[in-house]
Amino acid sequence: MSKNIESHLIEDRVFKPSKEFSKKARVSSMAQYRRMYKESIEKPSLFWAREAKELHWQKPWKKVLEWKAPFAKWFTEAKLNVCENCVDRHLSNGRKNKAAIIWEGEPGDKRVLTYHQLHREVCRFSNVLEANGVKARDRVLIYMPMVPEAAIAMLACARIGAVHSVVFGGFSAESISDRLEDSGATAVITADGGYRRGKVVPLKKNVDDALKKYQGVKRCIVYQRTNEKVTMKRGRDVWWHTEAKKVSADHTPKGFDSEHPLFILYTSGSTGKPKGILHTSGGYLVGTYTSSKYIFDMRNDDIFWCTADVGWVTGHSYIVFGPLANGVTQVMYEGAPNYPDFGRFWDIVEEYGVTTFYTAPTAIRAFIKAGDHLPDARDLSSLRLLGTVGEPINPEAWMWYREKIGSGRCPIVDTWWQTETGSIMISPLPGCTPTKPGTATLPFFGVDAAILDEEGNECKADEGGKLVIRKPWPSMLRTIYGDKARYRKTYWNDYEGIYTAGDGARTDKNGNFWIVGRLDDVLNVSGHRLGTAEVESALVAHKDVAEAAVVGRPHEIKGQGIVAFVTLKGQAKASPAAEKDLKAHVTKAIGAIARPDEIYFPPDGLPKTRSGKIMRRILKELVATGKVTGNVTTLEDFTVVRSLQKLLQKK
Ligand code: PRX
Repeated sequence: MSKNIESHLIEDRVFKPSKEFSKKARVSSMAQYRRMYKESIEKPSLFWAREAKELHWQKPWKKVLEWKAPFAKWFTEAKLNVCENCVDRHLSNGRKNKAAIIWEGEPGDKRVLTYHQLHREVCRFSNVLEANGVKARDRVLIYMPMVPEAAIAMLACARIGAVHSVVFGGFSAESISDRLEDSGATAVITADGGYRRGKVVPLKKNVDDALKKYQGVKRCIVYQRTNEKVTMKRGRDVWWHTEAKKVSADHTPKGFDSEHPLFILYTSGSTGKPKGILHTSGGYLVGTYTSSKYIFDMRNDDIFWCTADVGWVTGHSYIVFGPLANGVTQVMYEGAPNYPDFGRFWDIVEEYGVTTFYTAPTAIRAFIKAGDHLPDARDLSSLRLLGTVGEPINPEAWMWYREKIGSGRCPIVDTWWQTETGSIMISPLPGCTPTKPGTATLPFFGVDAAILDEEGNECKADEGGKLVIRKPWPSMLRTIYGDKARYRKTYWNDYEGIYTAGDGARTDKNGNFWIVGRLDDVLNVSGHRLGTAEVESALVAHKDVAEAAVVGRPHEIKGQGIVAFVTLKGQAKASPAAEKDLKAHVTKAIGAIARPDEIYFPPDGLPKTRSGKIMRRILKELVATGKVTGNVTTLEDFTVVRSLQKLLQKK
């Protein structure tokens, strides 16, 4: 029986960056990448000190790294202010009147904040927080729509040394109270409401419900966005705009220790009770700054757009801290990608001349399903670089992204990382790395990534195993908030002193990393371990398939049989013939071993987390027992589960 994860889907299309792109890029040849990578691994202190020196430190560090596995301290004894680096620094380097944030609300309202204006707003709000009793190390829960004030609130917390914990605006009252309790938060920043798909999300109402359960919050600051009628509890709730009028727009940024906690962000992965991932200041800032600079090849005239919500780590690292530390202009959009239709993103790209566009595979698959006429009708010629994050991207979705959005001209950076890693770990560098659809390619500077088997031996090329990182890196999580034992057990238990990411992966003969899915999701068919990503990608390569999820179901003989759930494109119809055709298609692409035993066509789509990841755990439970018993707080839409139950009962 094979213990390793097998790989059958071989991709041989290779795309090199154009000479024109390479010429202007920061890293323009593989020789340069290799040289810098080698230095970053062999002499990490030298490499990271050079990068860190581009930022502003109020007091220099003694040592770049102090590592007592699994606990790291970066830039020991240094003092810095993260907010000062993202905002104040640009007031004296020629960027004062440059747009920091170009914002568009879902209803179509627009705002631009220059670095100067952003500085005033952040200073003012820092004073508001302090006037309302918030101190360094206090935990502040932020539950906001995607308005500039969400970023302002995060930056102001960082400025005064308070620890923010952003909760995505789509989460329920119960998720808020759980996170309040776990973090012991004493203040909440929220809004009356936010716009999403033409409707108002009652944010303040959800906070009120959460605060009935958790009594530790002394102050709730409410930003007025939608003019909803809300209840303000006397002595606890205050309006952002009223408080802002009482204070000045001057605020001196104090230096905090490099290991001062910056934020807690709760992540569930796709299973279990949320974990409060703790990130600290100096290392996190250096990691997000450096990765933004090289991976998005950030330039002074870029218009950078990361479409994530600030409630996810992608929003923290590549809307707020990374791009602002680099002083670029970025776009922020409040609403849904399909409001009023799936052309909205392309309108935004056209209107603001977006140069770099960073989104998730789930969004790309939705765009494909919505039809080519939408991007075709817009001028996307300002784009120079595309990125993806969050899930393995199916090669066919990658090809569509390249051709339709990037006109075959823009490099694509498929970036692998996690809430825990804080910044991008595996990714092409756009000016030099040859890319192949479906692989995140090579490790970023300082990232000692490898694939290990159960015994801890390094797997050979094309042999699947566990993705690990063997050396500490600046933006790594420091612990799970309040639970060191869980931190050790979750990430450091498999191999001594080595971080286990929880993903299955393999490298090809050129050293490219292929993520085959979460280890909890790996299939085991007749003793062969197969990654879900490969079977799903084979399905998505069929001309009629928009999206696919594959899970194992207990099978008497094979151990597990394969069950596939497939969303078809616009015109295609679900039928026994379509099922037969798809089974034959997978057999041809991968082999009989991966042939699904059953294929379902769910009418309401697949169960996903609120950040768009497919929740295979739910599908697995449904096919095995017909029920869902596990934690479903991260599920986006429960009606999808009901409709799946009906579908499974029918068969
Ligand atoms: O399974 C990997 C997948 O997303 C997981 C991390 O999820 P989260 O903490 O929510 O952070 C998402 C944004 C960084 C990983 O363990 N993942 C993320 N990016 C990729 C990916 N899988 C394949 N390719 C990627 N580019």
